[in-house]
Amino acid sequence: MKKLLTLAALAILASGFANASNSDLVKEGKKIFNTKKLGNCFACHNANGKKINGPGTLGPKLQGLSMWPEQALYDKVYNPYKTNPISAMPPFGLNGVLNDHQIKAVVAYLKTIK
Ligand code: HEC
Repeated sequence: MKKLLTLAALAILASGFANASNSDLVKEGKKIFNTKKLGNCFACHNANGKKINGPGTLGPKLQGLSMWPEQALYDKVYNPYKTNPISAMPPFGLNGVLNDHQIKAVVAYLKTIK
C-alpha cells in the first residue's frame, strides 16, 4: 500500500513537472515565432488575432492549430513542401534555420492557437 502511495505521489509530481516544462516550451516557441532571426513566422502569419507588423499577408492567418496532430505541425515547419510542393513558406528544419528542439518548441506554441 505504501509503495502504491509513493508511486501515486511520484506520478503527480511527474505530471506537474511535465506541465511546467511544457509551458516553458510554449514560451520558447512563441519567442521563436516572433523573432526575426529565428522563426520570423510573424512576418507572414497572423496568430491569436495579433496584428502583424510587416508584409504579413503571404501566409494564411493561423487558426485552429490546436486541432492539428503534433507531427503534422512539425512536418509543416520542418518542410512545408512535403504537403505543398509549391509552398511559399521556407523549410525551417530542412534549411537548418531551426533545430529539432526549436521546432518542437514552435509546435508547442502552435498547439495553443485556437
Ligand atoms: C515567407 C513567408 C512565411 C514564413 C516566414 C512562414 N510561413 Fe508558414 N506559411 C506560409 C504560406 C504561404 C503558407 C500556406 C502554404 C502552405 O500551407 O504551405 C504557410 C502555411 C503554414 C501553416 C499551415 C497553416 C494552415 O492553416 O494550413 C503553418 C502551421 C505554418 N505556416 C507555420 C509557420 C511557422 C511556425 C513559421 C515560422 C517557423 C512560418 N509558418 C513561417 C508562409 C510563411
